[in-house]
Amino acid sequence: RRGASLTDFAEKIGADAASLVQVMFHLGEMVTATQSVTDETLQLLGAELEYDIQVVSPEDEDRELLESFSIEFGEDEGEDSELLPRPPVVSVMGHVDHGKTKLLDAIRNEDVVAGEAGGITQHIGAYQVQTEVDGTERKITFIDTPGHEAFTAMRARGARSTDIAVLVVAADDGVMPQTIEALNHAKAAGVPVVVAVNKIDVPDADPAKVRGQLTEYGLVPEEYGGDTMFVDISAKARINIEGLLEAIILTADASLDLRANPHQDAEGLAIEAHLDKGRGPVVTVLVQRGTLRVGDSIIAGPAYGRVRAMFDENGQQVDEAPPARPVLALGLSAVPRAGDNFMVVADDRMARQIAERREAAVRNASFARITKRVSLDDLSKL
Ligand code: GTP
Ligand code: MG
Repeated sequence: RRGASLTDFAEKIGADAASLVQVMFHLGEMVTATQSVTDETLQLLGAELEYDIQVVSPEDEDRELLESFSIEFGEDEGEDSELLPRPPVVSVMGHVDHGKTKLLDAIRNEDVVAGEAGGITQHIGAYQVQTEVDGTERKITFIDTPGHEAFTAMRARGARSTDIAVLVVAADDGVMPQTIEALNHAKAAGVPVVVAVNKIDVPDADPAKVRGQLTEYGLVPEEYGGDTMFVDISAKARINIEGLLEAIILTADASLDLRANPHQDAEGLAIEAHLDKGRGPVVTVLVQRGTLRVGDSIIAGPAYGRVRAMFDENGQQVDEAPPARPVLALGLSAVPRAGDNFMVVADDRMARQIAERREAAVRNASFARITKRVSLDDLSKL
C-alpha cells in the first residue's frame, strides 16, 4: 500500500499543507508536511475535517478504471463448452545457482520443435516446449523466474499466473533460504510443487538429505507416503530430464483441469520487457486467455499500442498466440513492468485512453478518494 504525505493530501483537497500539519498537531500527532503517513492517519485527519476518506488500493482503482470502459480482466468468457484444454504454465524457482537456468537449457534441448527450427535461441524469459509423454505430444510452458522481477510481481497478482512450481534444489547444497522463500510463494499461491533435486552428478550430492529437509517444511515425498513428487536430475549431465517433464504432466493431469477459451480477446501477463535500440519496447507476454494476434490493440500497464510483430522462443515470426503461449511482441508505446496485465481492447483510441489514465493514476499516487469537499475558508477556521 502506498504511503502519502500531508502535502499530497493537501493538494488533493486544495488545502494548504501547513494548516494540515497544524490540525494534526491539535490531534496530538507531530508530522511534517512531507513525511509519509499511514492510511489511518489520513482517515483520522479526514474525519476531523469532515471528509469521508476512502482508501482505495491500486488494484481496485485499476479495476474500476477498466470497468468504466466496460472491460473486465481475468475471466474466461462464453460457455463452458468453449473452454479448451491448454498447456500447463510452470515456473522454475529456487535458490541462487541451484541450476534453474541450466535446467531450462536442458529442457529446451529435449524440445523437438526447437531442434527442428534450428533458429537462434532467443532469450524471452519464458518458452513453450513440446514433449512426448506416454507416446502423446504434450506442450509445457516454462517461466524462468530469477534474474528478473517477474516472479515476485506475478505472485503478487495471485495464483492465476502459474499452474505448477518446479522447485530446484541442488543436492550438494541442500535447502537454502531462497528455497524456502520460493516454497512459501508457491504455497501462498496454492500452486502444486514438483521438486527437482538437481546436481546429482556431483560427488557429494545427497538427494536423501534434500528430501528430509523439505519434509520438515511440509513437502513430503511420495516415497515417504506424502504427495509431493521428487525427481532426481542433473541439468548439466542431462540426467532424467524426461522424468521431470513426466512428473509435471502427471501433476497437471492429476490435480488440475487446465482450460481456457481461445476464441476471445487475449489477456495475460507481461513477463519481461526492455527497450531495444532498433525495435523500441520489446515485451514478452504470456497469453492466459483468448488468442493474441498481430494487429491487435493492447494495453499493458501504462503501455499501449498495436501489436506490430510477434516472435516465438525460436525467433520465428508468428501471427497468433493461443492460451499458455509466451511470445515476444513489438509495437508498444512504452515498456511495461514485469507482472503487469496485458489485454486486447477494442481499438487504438481506447487503448491510449486507458494507458493515459493509468499513468495519471500512478503519477498522482491516488491513495484516497475524497467524497466531500470543503473550502479553504473552512480549513482556515480550524
Ligand atoms: P540464478 O539464476 O543466479 O539464481 O542461478 P540458477 O539457479 O539459474 O543457476 P544456473 O543454472 O545458472 O547454474 C549455476 C551453476 O551451477 C552453473 O555453473 C551451472 O553450470 C551449474 N550447474 C547447474 N546444474 C548443474 C548440475 O546438474 N550439475 C553440475 N555439476 N552443475 C550444475
Ligand atoms: Mg538463472
